[in-house]
Amino acid sequence: MAAPNIETIVSLSKRRGFVFPSSDIYGGLGSAWDYGPLGVELANNVKRAWWRWLVYERDDIEGIDSSIILNRLVWKYSEHEATFNDPLVDCRKCKSRFRADKLVEEFGAGEGTDLAGVACPKCGANDWTEPRPFNMMLQTRLGAVAEEEDPAALAYLRPETAQGIFINFLNVQTTTRRKLPFGVAQVGKSFRNEVTPGNFILRTREFEQMEMEYFVRPDAEHFRLVDYWVEQYTGWYTSLGVARENLFLYEVPQEKLAHYSRRTVDIMYRYFPERPEEARQWEELMGIAYRTDFDLKQHSNKPEDEEGKRRNTDSTADLSYFDEAAKERFYPHVVEPASGVNRSLLAFMMDAYTERTTDKGETRVVLKLHPELAPIKVAVLPLAKNKPEIVSMARRIKSELQPSMRAVYDDTGGIGKLYARQDEIGTPFCVTIDHQSLEDEAVTVRDRDTWEQERVKASELSEHLRKRMGR
Ligand code: GAP
Repeated sequence: MAAPNIETIVSLSKRRGFVFPSSDIYGGLGSAWDYGPLGVELANNVKRAWWRWLVYERDDIEGIDSSIILNRLVWKYSEHEATFNDPLVDCRKCKSRFRADKLVEEFGAGEGTDLAGVACPKCGANDWTEPRPFNMMLQTRLGAVAEEEDPAALAYLRPETAQGIFINFLNVQTTTRRKLPFGVAQVGKSFRNEVTPGNFILRTREFEQMEMEYFVRPDAEHFRLVDYWVEQYTGWYTSLGVARENLFLYEVPQEKLAHYSRRTVDIMYRYFPERPEEARQWEELMGIAYRTDFDLKQHSNKPEDEEGKRRNTDSTADLSYFDEAAKERFYPHVVEPASGVNRSLLAFMMDAYTERTTDKGETRVVLKLHPELAPIKVAVLPLAKNKPEIVSMARRIKSELQPSMRAVYDDTGGIGKLYARQDEIGTPFCVTIDHQSLEDEAVTVRDRDTWEQERVKASELSEHLRKRMGR
């Protein structure tokens, strides 16, 4: 069983401190969210798991961390200035503004059709303006400029982390002495002035991406590589708890491809299981795109267009690659798996969500997060908080565990309540200390998913838990 809808996760998040509406005390800020004590741990664990999987466990991927604000020319030559647009329409009656493609997808006759017959979701009218392009890059101004509109001061907050990788391609390749194929991974914030953000952390104007650009020879089997990365990522998500039936592969049709892509497969997640029509249950979790040599060429000072003119008159570098073995120089091609931290976190939470009925007929939420993702790995609970020896043994055990795993101590309720709290936030193990523990130096380990208990020597506890978490 997974969460029945996103709302269930919104209320759990608020109740237990995963995610809060941002700027709440000032009336909020449309679709901005703050991550609380548990949310930040979960998000960090998602990023760490991803980084470990790609950068540490493989031998062909390096990591970088580039600036959020880059030279504006990056966005000129990446063509985001000219083409990173959403089609915008206004309802002439109530003046509400929407993304035309999303309206058609959600309320119309489906993909590929037009707005005819789509009623305004706000007022019900059917009187739309012509769709017009709206650039999604968020602008800012650098330095203390006298003129508000000074174009020299204009800069953008990056709408994707990918460009920071392309402009550093040569830096990474030469300093690491990498030969093709190899990839460069980056995780960090991106910003888009979304016309219609919404659905909790699914579509926000500030979000976090985990992207990887995989550089290969021009004659590599690029479409096969797209399939390869789709398979790898499907495996990654399922290995961390997402059910395969909640993922769906979507081959993006030619007319909907981003300006740089020749093929894109989106991995969709069932974020809306409550919708009766299965086709409407999905939203993009991540995309895998074949970006060709588009970006490296665009940022290089050498390539010329059909008329023999330099494509890029501002760049000072040629981002081509010399293949020593083949004695050839060329622009590497790129296959890019691009995923979102926030959307991943939401998918992991939705899939981990279960409810269980106790012997007394009470419903308990059990968040069956993979131990690697769980914000807290173990809660240490004294069974008698007014017995100083028990409390001090529990505190000692918590501090012994802490260097190797995130542990907490809690004595603020009866044991049933303490277990329920930990189940709800996904803590895989609770350790209780009782009177017997003082005599035999053993503790009780309780499993979140089975509620089964076993006695373990305190001296062997850390090793025992690590093994059970598969580490
Ligand atoms: N470099 C390619 C790229 O940025 P994308 O499909 O536009 O591709 C990749 O974005 C991923 O980033 C998406 O699949 C999604 O997980 C996440 N993402 C994009 N826009 C988002 C938004 N407004 N809010 C939350 N996540 C977003």
